[in-house]
Parts: sequence; C-alpha cells; structure tokens
Amino acid sequence: MSKYLWIDCDPGVDDAATILLAHQSQKFQPIGISTVAGNATHRHTFDNARRLVHLIPADTPVYPGAEKPLIRELTTAPYVHGVDSLGGIQLPASESEKTTESKKAWDALYEALCRYGDDLEVLAIGPLTNIAIALAKYPDFAQRLKRLIIMGGAAKGGNYTPAAEFNIYVDPEAAEKVFMSGIPIFMFGLDVTLQSYLTEEDLDALENQSSPQAKFMVDCLQLSKEFAKTKNLKGVPLHDVCTLLYLEKPKLFSFKKAWVRVETGGEITRGKTVTDLYSDKQMEPKNTQVALVVRREDFAQLFLEMMNRYSKGSLCKHIYI
Ligand code: BDR
Ligand code: CA
Repeated sequence: MSKYLWIDCDPGVDDAATILLAHQSQKFQPIGISTVAGNATHRHTFDNARRLVHLIPADTPVYPGAEKPLIRELTTAPYVHGVDSLGGIQLPASESEKTTESKKAWDALYEALCRYGDDLEVLAIGPLTNIAIALAKYPDFAQRLKRLIIMGGAAKGGNYTPAAEFNIYVDPEAAEKVFMSGIPIFMFGLDVTLQSYLTEEDLDALENQSSPQAKFMVDCLQLSKEFAKTKNLKGVPLHDVCTLLYLEKPKLFSFKKAWVRVETGGEITRGKTVTDLYSDKQMEPKNTQVALVVRREDFAQLFLEMMNRYSKGSLCKHIYI
C-alpha cells in the first residue's frame, strides 16, 4: 500500500459507488471522507457517508463540511438520486451517528495533507465548496496539494443546464477559486463520464455477485438507470467512479491539457467550465488535464472486479439484506 486517499463527496449514488470501491483498492488506503451539500442537503450526504462506511464495514472517519455553497442557495438533485439521495434506499443508521467528528472537513483535509504530503490523493466528487474553504483558510493548501482529481464540468455541454454540469453549477464561485488556485487539476467531466457507463449486462453481472454491498449497489442504481433511459443514454453513467478508477488504472483514460475557467457571472451560462480545447484562442496557464476518452469495457470490468472483492471478503449480511 503506497498511497493514501481522501474523498470529498456528496453521496449520492455514484459517490456511494466510489466510496465502496475505494475501500476495495489494493493501491490506496482511504484515510478520510468529507461531505458537502450537493445532491442532497448536508444532513443527508453526511449521514449517507457514515452509513456507507458502516456497510463496508470500515472505520474511515467522515468529516462534516459545508452546508451550502459559498454564496448561492443550495440546488439538489433528488430526480437522479432519489429521496435521501441513495436511490431511495435507506441504509440503517450506524452507531457512529451518535457522535460527530469534531473537526470540520477543511481542517481535517489540511491536517491530512500536512501529514501525508505527496502520498495523499484527493478526489473531489461533489460541489467544490469544501476545497474552496480550505484554500481560503490555509494559504499554503494549494502548494501542498500535488494535484486534485475532480468529477465536474464538461468541455462540451451540460447536464443541469445546457451549459453546466451539476457539481460546478451548484457552486460556481467555489469551482472558479479551485481552478484559479494553481493546483494541477485532473478533470473528469461529462465528456468522459457519459462514456463511463454500466450496461444492462454489467448490472446483471453485479446482481449475480453474492455480497450485500453488491446487492445494495444494484438497488441503489435502479433510479439512475431509469433516469438514464429518459435521456436515451446507453447505460447508467458512473460519473464519480471515474476519478477512483483512474487512480486504480490510469491507462483507462486519455487526456488533453487545457486552460479551464468557470463562468460565475452569466445567467444562462452559470457554472460553465470554459476551456480552450476547441478554440482557436489558446490560453495560459494550461491548469487542467481534461479526460476525454475512456476504455468503457475495461472500466466496467474493473468496476465489477473490485465490487466482487466484497464477495470474497468479510460480509455484513445483518446490515443490508
Ligand atoms: C455529478 O453530479 C452529481 O449528481 C453526481 O453525484 C456527480 O458528482 C454528475 O454531474
Ligand atoms: Ca457526486
């Protein structure tokens, strides 16, 4: 085990999948999860993260983060993630819910960064509010972080509006601060995450796995599957999972380096990630590696392989049957 992993998230169905997979990594040890308001209110994303850790079962600490975007009202996504934000599935409350980590997300992440330095990989798969707060509070945060791997944005198009992807739309001011911070960013936006889907056959294969975690995942994905059908997608996209599977197997993805900024002023373009990828105007600095292509079948295979490790390891049938 050479590296440590931090997940800043808003579970969320695909966040849930990322958390489950991360705990089956043979390359990275998850050492902290922080939550942010996004797919649902922070009360739900925080509880969901703790319940997911209990389902694994693991003892990864979960730190509470921002309850709302930096300056905007919170926008949530119940139409994709369902009531309570796990596809309508309610995981039982865990013992850990009786106590709350006293440290806030940005403080805990900064401490982890000081301790682990370049051995820490940070995934940010929700709105970027917690990361922006860390940047504002700790002037050396950006220098200390070797890179930030995000799910968010799109070089082309949007899913919440024609211009914007959901995570960036929710807190564009936070996202702009992050893109302007000097931290090298690996951006898994809709360009590649819409290609990173599970087919019906993949879901059948997941259903055939014997673990309660796989059963939970299948149930949890049903609503997203229905939603994907209404958008004529070829399968259920696992947006957030791209970040983790990239760490597991970097060759799954291809990138192009680009300049990326975030639109905060526009009304109809709020939250658009503006890149120079398809523009004759080339800009500096090229602050972002934009993921553009995924080897989808290998992606799905790795997802199934990692989920299947639950069938071989310790089970917790009493928690989710
Ligand atoms: C992103 O928005 C959320 O709904 C998902 O969890 C993902 O992080 C996709 O646009
Ligand atoms: Ca998310």
